[in-house]
Amino acid sequence: MERPLRVLVTGSAGQVGLDLLDVLAGLTPLGGDETFQPDGRPVGRDEFEVLGLTRHELDITDHDAVLRCVEAVHPDVIVHLAAYTAVDRAEGDSLSCFAVNATATETMSFAAMETGAHLISISTDYVFDGEKGAAYVEDDAANPLSVYGASKFAGELLCREEDTIVRTSWVMGVRGKNVVHVIAERALSGATVRFVSDQTGTVTAASDLARALVTLVRERPGGTWHVANTGTTTWFDVAAHVGALLGRGDDFATAIATAQLDPAPLATRPTRSDLATTKFAHRWSHLPEWRDGVERLVLDRARRPDRS
Ligand SMILES: NC(=O)c1ccc[n+]([C@@H]2O[C@H](COP(=O)([O-])OP(=O)(O)OC[C@H]3O[C@@H](n4cnc5c(N)ncnc54)[C@H](OP(=O)(O)O)[C@@H]3O)[C@@H](O)[C@H]2O)c1
Repeated sequence: MERPLRVLVTGSAGQVGLDLLDVLAGLTPLGGDETFQPDGRPVGRDEFEVLGLTRHELDITDHDAVLRCVEAVHPDVIVHLAAYTAVDRAEGDSLSCFAVNATATETMSFAAMETGAHLISISTDYVFDGEKGAAYVEDDAANPLSVYGASKFAGELLCREEDTIVRTSWVMGVRGKNVVHVIAERALSGATVRFVSDQTGTVTAASDLARALVTLVRERPGGTWHVANTGTTTWFDVAAHVGALLGRGDDFATAIATAQLDPAPLATRPTRSDLATTKFAHRWSHLPEWRDGVERLVLDRARRPDRS
């Protein structure tokens, strides 16, 4: 009998990490689509042997601890999700942000090389400046506008050619703090919201991304891949959609311009950073449409164990 594929996951308590651990165990995470398998193959019982690591268990900025850990676990695949993700805070904290997103990613790539593991490292649409005026493909030139985007791009450059880099965008899980939950709380409380309609991107349900990551764990393709839900949207469209799902009328969400945000956000975000996912879709399949992902998030939210 073939032995299970051994997978080490960093950042396992984050929103993508929680969903990925469920999917690798053959479960459907909260907000997940049971039928969506990009390679058409459900996860087999005992297909994977998984070790998920939280920040408490492994601080990825501790170079020696990372090397010791990867050597001891000897994984076939490392899915590197741990990251400094506070985009605005990063503007005043670039040293920490680069230590986590750039230097520690290099350590992870080195540890993978030393132990013969395949590294899958997650990056972001914020590596782009948004000036293209069309969806970004994998080979487009990066030009990050924020410290976070620059640190993630540096992390990409510090990986080896044989590693797999997955760029994704606007990720939201049922578990985790994200914009969809904020909007849903306000919709349910009778309040209204104002969201920008001049930033275009692609929402990605963490559970759909997790399914795509399992395909990449199996295939270990190397190179850069854009993975996001299908379709493009704006934050205003997301708010209006969540409001409608929860029975609110057209007056729930008001569209504003980024320049009207008060206080202005510390980090500059690209005005248009939707990711073209045709490379992934040609080889496997498209991810579900973003409205479908958001709908599952909103409807499954009531079952979330930590609904504080
Ligand atoms: N969220 C998005 O919209 C988005 C968009 C594009 C790309 N991505 C990328 O997708 C990946 C997963 O994101 P996510 O949404 O799951 O983020 P998340 O919920 O913020 O999870 C990130 C995890 O990394 C952990 N972490 C931070 N610093 C660490 C350290 N020094 N050592 C070990 N663990 C550390 C965090 O722990 P603490 O909670 O204890 O800090 C957290 O559990 C990241 O690479 C992110 O950059 C996210």
